[in-house]
Amino acid sequence: MGPGRLLPGLLLAIGAAARWVATPDTVRPRVVREQLLWVSGEGHGGVHTFRVPLVAATRGGALLACAEGRKRSAADVGAKFIACRHSPDGGATWGPTRVAADDGSAADGLNLGALAVAGDEVLLLFARCAHPPQACGPPSTHLLRSRDGGLSWGPPQNLSGVVGSEVFAPGPGYGIQKQHAPGRGRLVFCGHGTLERDGVSLLLSDDGGLRWRRGGALPAIPFGAPRHPRDFTPDECQPYELPDGSIAVNIRNQNSYRCRCRMVARSWDGGETLPPAAVTFDPALVDPAVAAGVLVTGDLVFFSNPAHESQRVNLTLRWSFTNGTTWWGRGLQVWAGPSGYSSMAAPPPDAQGHAPFLYLIYEKGRSLSTETISLATISIAGGP
Ligand SMILES: *[C@@H]1O[C@H](CO)[C@@H](O)[C@H](O)[C@H]1NC(C)=O
Ligand SMILES: *[C@@H]1O[C@H](CO)[C@@H](O)[C@H](O)[C@H]1NC(C)=O
Ligand SMILES: *[C@@H]1O[C@H](CO)[C@@H](O)[C@H](O)[C@H]1NC(C)=O
Repeated sequence: MGPGRLLPGLLLAIGAAARWVATPDTVRPRVVREQLLWVSGEGHGGVHTFRVPLVAATRGGALLACAEGRKRSAADVGAKFIACRHSPDGGATWGPTRVAADDGSAADGLNLGALAVAGDEVLLLFARCAHPPQACGPPSTHLLRSRDGGLSWGPPQNLSGVVGSEVFAPGPGYGIQKQHAPGRGRLVFCGHGTLERDGVSLLLSDDGGLRWRRGGALPAIPFGAPRHPRDFTPDECQPYELPDGSIAVNIRNQNSYRCRCRMVARSWDGGETLPPAAVTFDPALVDPAVAAGVLVTGDLVFFSNPAHESQRVNLTLRWSFTNGTTWWGRGLQVWAGPSGYSSMAAPPPDAQGHAPFLYLIYEKGRSLSTETISLATISIAGGP
């Protein structure tokens, strides 16, 4: 059954005028649809591997999904293009793959990346030459803007002048537009550096993405040194806004500092700072060191990752009724087998404060996590 047909029954059941209240009884996520958006290495234009999936819910119920097309190998380094597909109808139908950016045959090409929805525009941020020293020039970070939901893109804007000479590899995931003070309306992206010079930092814009500046940073310790097991190495990051207007950043804990679990940073000043004293570790979110998804919708926080201490398997959706401080139950196992990076999006909540669906895009396979990019549509109040 498609989401469109579930919705009327759902509204009837909860009463059209009542504010929807998220409780363990009303929140029972289940997968109602799953679609393979890209398949690696099956002669699809000679693309070796699709990786690093992103999804955004754009205006009018449309969706945009993007991923890296790694042309000749599965490696992070190498020539790539950014593949995007557009759905005008919440995932019911999908248009063909369109190329948002292409690095030709660069020795170390582009890397995703983060999407953001800002009013009528969709922004796509990606890095180039993010694995120095490679023979493709200085690292840089680039912004694409679309006025048609990601069907076409304007010319790339090189943000090196803002970012400086350090690598700023965005996400992977999405950037946010703040809904609450402080900094209401501000665009916030999170990015990370190279392993030796790692750490997360924020990129801020207060004018809808025309001008950017650096926000808070949380560098690795030690900085600029080869990594050791258990080093403090904040890596790939997903920011989200909590109802009190603070920003939380869920972070890949690259060297398993303190735990094989997620690291969380906070900012109470709209992303100007990421104070080290506010960094916590969440033992409930067991993680093999991977990019994970976080989504805030209504009063709920969702989290997705391969929930395993060392292997990329067991893609699990967790949810929190307590602003992400505790997680309910054991979550929903979306895929028991190989799975990797994931990201989520949801349409804006309706007048009752409820988003009926969320979209979870993830790396999924039978023997390797990089075999396909799959999109799961998950009914939030799906019931047993
Ligand atoms: C981006 O700008 C930087 C700094 O001006 C420059 O070094 C780099 O070559 C530019 N990158 C691209 C791909 O244009
Ligand atoms: C979540 O945060 C909001 C805003 O600070 C607060 O009003 C609410 O009580 C919090 N929810 C829980 C369950 O702690
Ligand atoms: C999958 O992850 C969930 C959530 O962490 C956990 O409860 C469950 O035991 C895991 N299953 C396997 C087979 O690892």
